[in-house]
Amino acid sequence: MDAKLAALVALLALLGPVACHGASIICLGGWVRPVPSLLGGGLVCPGNLTSYPLKKGPAPSASVLKVGYYNSSSSNACPNAEDIVRKVVEDAVSKDPGTGAGLIRLFFHDCFVRGCDASVLLRNTSGSSEQTEMFGLPNINSLRGFEVIDAAKAALEAACPGVVSCADTLAFAARDASSVLSGGRISSFAMPAGRHDGRVSLANETTDNLPGPFCDLNALNNFFAAKGLDTDDMVTLSGAHTIGQARCAFVSNRTDMNATLAKDLRDKCMSGGNTKVALDYKTPDTMDVQYYQNVNDDDVVLDSDAALSSPATKPLVDTYVAGSSGNLWETKFAAAMVKMGSIEVKTSPGADAEIRKKCSIYN
Ligand code: HEM
Ligand SMILES: *[C@@H]1O[C@H](CO)[C@@H](O)[C@H](O)[C@H]1NC(C)=O
Ligand SMILES: *[C@@H]1O[C@H](CO)[C@@H](O)[C@H](O)[C@H]1NC(C)=O
Ligand SMILES: *[C@@H]1O[C@H](CO)[C@@H](O)[C@H](O)[C@H]1NC(C)=O
Ligand SMILES: *[C@@H]1O[C@H](CO)[C@@H](O)[C@H](O)[C@H]1NC(C)=O
Ligand SMILES: *[C@@H]1O[C@H](CO)[C@@H](O)[C@H](O)[C@H]1NC(C)=O
Repeated sequence: MDAKLAALVALLALLGPVACHGASIICLGGWVRPVPSLLGGGLVCPGNLTSYPLKKGPAPSASVLKVGYYNSSSSNACPNAEDIVRKVVEDAVSKDPGTGAGLIRLFFHDCFVRGCDASVLLRNTSGSSEQTEMFGLPNINSLRGFEVIDAAKAALEAACPGVVSCADTLAFAARDASSVLSGGRISSFAMPAGRHDGRVSLANETTDNLPGPFCDLNALNNFFAAKGLDTDDMVTLSGAHTIGQARCAFVSNRTDMNATLAKDLRDKCMSGGNTKVALDYKTPDTMDVQYYQNVNDDDVVLDSDAALSSPATKPLVDTYVAGSSGNLWETKFAAAMVKMGSIEVKTSPGADAEIRKKCSIYN
């Protein structure tokens, strides 16, 4: 064992029984796999530590944003903005459904770190040479879909220069990707707009704000509560794991995983931690309630997915499985995306907010 890790294990042993699950210390927001303590008594984290529980945040208020914001006849008019984005997203997602998964996750990772201000898209941050969010542990070598946002933004700038924010572009794109990947069962729902783009983006804020795959139910609830979202939102939005991929490094080791899936993952992950596996191996490219069926069947890839079969959240999981014919989850997912989309939004230009010209760099 490496000397630093040994010192950390000794330190944690002094602090008493420490666990990444449900205790007062978690491993980099749940992004680092807890390892059994060699000194006995629970699990320790081979990495940095984040204290928790997190502070509970106010519920996001959608009223500051407006549906059809760019339809107005004033200076923020760009009546075709949503059509322009939709066209670009439909083309990209029809070529590669993984891009759609990427866009939906980009929106989540944007909103949970400094609010929905397109900070996740920045390659440079104002006033410092620190690395930006996209280089943080949850994001690096993982996020995808940036080129779709860049293409949509270029088309928007050609139609209405300086009007449509990158944060709104991302919100529309995530909505459109959901609609396409669900075959329209998630409607092209109204996504309020009027967000401004931030100028600051810091890699070191990612693990503190984004729940990791090794989080238990308590940690997941805390991360969402910190953004003013409740357990219902958490369960509903986790359904995004009905599409897309995860790297083997994040795959659960739990012993009660469905044996067929466990064997499949072992085989695939022989080639290393960066190998990618489907989050919903049954219907990997379709947004549907199969994910919730998988939760009930111990057929999910991440510990954080498996956590939803806890007694407190299983009733809602069951409701989504039972309500599939009425598109209950699809309707609630749309509403939860809108709610998530109003986390800590910046709605007027100022020292920390603007309409970016290019999404990867502040003006
Ligand atoms: C509940 C807490 C959540 C945790 C712990 C979590 C964790 C993860 C992890 C570890 C991955 C794989 C990343 C990699 O291997 O590089 C992933 C992928 C993904 N997540 Fe989540 N996630 C959560 C919630 C959400 C939410 C709320 C959304 C969107 C509404 C979302 C959308 C996605 C999508 C679409 C992918 C696949 C991305 C791709 O294929 O490019 N996740 N998530
Ligand atoms: C965690 O990271 C911060 C910032 O990089 C550093 O100051 C701190 O010493 C680290 N803590 C541990 C326990 O490694
Ligand atoms: C915005 O304008 C477009 C095109 O004219 C129209 O299709 C859409 O319904 C309008 N949306 C709102 C919310 O007014
Ligand atoms: C932007 O960040 C990149 C590294 O991501 C760096 O090479 C470049 O010099 C930065 N540019 C500006 C204008 O700060
Ligand atoms: C992140 O880095 C910035 C810039 O170096 C620093 O000011 C800030 O305190 C750091 N935040 C955390 C949570 O470590
Ligand atoms: C595990 O998954 C396989 C394949 O989907 C299925 O046939 C089997 O019934 C599942 N086993 C359990 C115990 O749920």
